[in-house]
Amino acid sequence: MEDINFVWKQVRVELDKDSYDILIGPGVLTHVSTDLKDIFPASSYFIISDSNVSDILGEDLLNILKSDGLNAHLLSFPAGEASKNMDTVVSLARNMVRKGADRKSMVLALGGGVTGDIAAFLASIYMRGIKCIQLPTSLLAQVDSSVGGKTGVDIPEGKNLLGTFFQPKRVYCDIGTLTSLPRDEFINGMAEVVKYGMIMSKELFNILEKNYLEILNLEPDLICKIVTESCSIKAKVVSQDEREGGLRRILNFGHTIGHSIEAASDYAISHGRAVSIGMVVVSKLALIKGMFSEREFKRLKTLLNNLGLPTCVPSDLDTRTLIELLYHDKKTIAGRINFVLCSEIGRCFVTDEVDVKEVEEAIDSCR
Ligand SMILES: NC(=O)c1ccc[n+]([C@@H]2O[C@H](COP(=O)([O-])OP(=O)(O)OC[C@H]3O[C@@H](n4cnc5c(N)ncnc54)[C@H](O)[C@@H]3O)[C@@H](O)[C@H]2O)c1
Ligand SMILES: [Zn+2]
Repeated sequence: MEDINFVWKQVRVELDKDSYDILIGPGVLTHVSTDLKDIFPASSYFIISDSNVSDILGEDLLNILKSDGLNAHLLSFPAGEASKNMDTVVSLARNMVRKGADRKSMVLALGGGVTGDIAAFLASIYMRGIKCIQLPTSLLAQVDSSVGGKTGVDIPEGKNLLGTFFQPKRVYCDIGTLTSLPRDEFINGMAEVVKYGMIMSKELFNILEKNYLEILNLEPDLICKIVTESCSIKAKVVSQDEREGGLRRILNFGHTIGHSIEAASDYAISHGRAVSIGMVVVSKLALIKGMFSEREFKRLKTLLNNLGLPTCVPSDLDTRTLIELLYHDKKTIAGRINFVLCSEIGRCFVTDEVDVKEVEEAIDSCR
């Protein structure tokens, strides 16, 4: 898992005084303790993790920090999206107070996207904001949620409705941690990697196409390459548009339809798989509009299938329901929404020049 000869990669997220680095490679977690002492001194460190990651990686990290003489604590919460709420945030905050956390303490978010979102949100509001470092351990967290500074929790009315923009001080993507990640979760994360290839990097798409088997086998060189390329693209987009005014919208490729597929299935279809289907549907839409080629559409479907991702809209999700969810309610069906479409692999644009009829046709032809 660890390889001292491996050269770690570094990606910079440029955001003026909030700029930070992402370190990527097998074993970067082993470097955290030294960096904390040298670069990020704090009165105490709070590793926040979910119940799975806490057992697999949290205890070890805690022991390393402690043996390096740091005042460290490990707090965990039950794994799963159901924990991403204010109750968890308040309970963690109360635990931190009890363990003496002050304005100079630091949060270390060790886990998947759920942990990252909760822990960074907590850091952003604890005593009006304390420093936070992201230690993502799921592929989705490494290529997406740990970078960009969006934090938040869910409320019954909707996902991520309470949150902040709060940039971490650094991100450590230890690709070695992916060896214990359930395969299904890894494949979910791969949908986001394909997304980056589609919207901005023909080279990344080509790497995925040629090496999907090695990638599924977690070959470290390749995983490092695709995580680095994905982080570079997210960093570039976020640097230019921190708060989603313009460019950041391209990260929603496949997501507009993906979200309605997730919702229509009552979240039985996971985010990554819904995004995979969403990417196929919007690419079909672009094809119908004469803006994308049949050849590249086939390449996308083949790649997703090779990675074990779905490419068809399930028969039990009817088109009408998906359209209604897409346009939120029937009254706005006449209105327009923005779609991210690709003109070719690696190149995309945002348009609202899409008729409901075309969306229906695209969904129907992806059955
Ligand atoms: N902030 C953002 O910009 C952003 C972007 C995308 C998604 N998100 C959020 O991310 C969340 C989804 O993230 P996720 O898919 O990582 O979910 P998750 O955090 O629930 O992790 C998925 C599962 O994998 C387990 N896991 C994680 N790392 C592991 C490891 N190394 N070994 C073994 N098990 C491990 C977790 O315990 C969990 O059971 C959602 O809440 C979503 O809203 C946020
Ligand atoms: Zn996503």
